[in-house]
Amino acid sequence: PKTYTLALIKPTALANGHGDAIFAKIAEANIKVVQQDEVTLTEEQAKAFYAEHEGKEFFDNLVSFMTSGPIKPLVLMSHGDAVAEWRQLIGPTSVETAKEEAPDSIRALYGTDNTANAAHGSDSKLSAYREIEFFFPDWAMENLVPDR
Ligand code: CMP
Repeated sequence: PKTYTLALIKPTALANGHGDAIFAKIAEANIKVVQQDEVTLTEEQAKAFYAEHEGKEFFDNLVSFMTSGPIKPLVLMSHGDAVAEWRQLIGPTSVETAKEEAPDSIRALYGTDNTANAAHGSDSKLSAYREIEFFFPDWAMENLVPDR
């Protein structure tokens, strides 16, 4: 069966020209990009997307970073487990940990700190559905709704 996850290429990774290298890593892992867009989030949108982190000490930084420039949201498809495979590719949230434990991961290679950590990946199938719907509501309606 097809499985899906939501990926974000974050502002600095895109601004620093790492988009193509990230797409190459996706292709190498046999993951397909089935939807893509380039958008600049408003503060309201960033707060809504990251609502689960509201109140944490890094929240304000996260929101200002994620609204600082264009990002690329992607819907990724795998015939295995898209959520797990993409999280494996991006590596640990902490860039420092990523460099130690997964030096070939996207965050190790293209992240600069824990906020500007190059990429996001949904943390579960449920989050993936919510996050795909956030960026690609029409596609989600057609493709994620169980058989009717
Ligand atoms: P992301 O997968 O986009 O989800 C939430 C983001 O918050 C995370 O990646 C990090 O970029 C950012 N963040 C910044 N500081 C922290 C922290 N201490 N713990 C977790 N996430 C953090």
